[in-house]
Amino acid sequence: MNAAGGAGIRLVLLGAPGAGKGTQAAEITKRLGLPHISTGDLLRVAIRDGSPLGRKVAAIVERGELVPDALIGEVMEERLSRRDAAGGFLLDGFPRTPAQADILDRMLVRRGQTLDRVILIEVPETEIVERLAGRRSCGRCGAVYHVRYNPPGVEGICDRCGSRLQQRPDDAEAVIKDRLRAYREQTAPLVARYEKAGLLVPVDGRGRPDEVFGRIAGGIPGLRE
Ligand code: AP5
Repeated sequence: MNAAGGAGIRLVLLGAPGAGKGTQAAEITKRLGLPHISTGDLLRVAIRDGSPLGRKVAAIVERGELVPDALIGEVMEERLSRRDAAGGFLLDGFPRTPAQADILDRMLVRRGQTLDRVILIEVPETEIVERLAGRRSCGRCGAVYHVRYNPPGVEGICDRCGSRLQQRPDDAEAVIKDRLRAYREQTAPLVARYEKAGLLVPVDGRGRPDEVFGRIAGGIPGLRE
């Protein structure tokens, strides 16, 4: 099946830090039965485990800068080669630069695949700062909360696995500014590229997560509310 049927669909989620990519990705992948492939999550696991990759990227991620394209390319080559990605996927946080978009294009061509849609979640920067400052994440299962907009049942504890919630080090206010700058300078140019390719689905990311999901569902055939 293709975009019209769910399985086999290949999606990219684009948007500034804190736009709600991870939140929406969780819902989209649950409904469509796709793997949620987040470069941020892959890097954070590597950092937490102290792997060679994690040691290389820890300081870069903590400063809110982008990891070098070649390294991200290696990570994604390995991840997209796993069996679960053969039947479609949702990419969250990749590609993030024009060079990464070229890398993805080459990977897809080698596999005889194409992208179906690139969903752009748009949120004003003032709202983004508030979202990131209030975010709490589960280091164990990856669930994401917000102290005000999406609080867990018991303060500081993950609803899903019972672990203690944490604040990401790169959600410090000074680092948020640098991440937003990296987005504006290095990632935002991808919007025009995917628009030109006829793949872009721009979505207003304001409002409750279920409202945002409803807008996304309206632009993705096969994704029912
Ligand atoms: P990554 O993990 O990809 O972070 P990001 O893009 O900065 O995005 P976030 O995870 O911060 O936000 P999100 O859009 O997923 O929002 P969320 O749903 O959590 O990357 C981290 C770092 O890794 C980068 O800075 C870089 O160093 C490195 N990296 C990763 N990929 C890379 C790549 N390809 N190349 C190079 N380097 C790379 O929501 C945010 C908060 O808002 C939550 O608290 C949530 O509960 C809340 N929220 C969500 N939706 C709503 C809503 N509708 N209303 C109110 N609150 C909401």
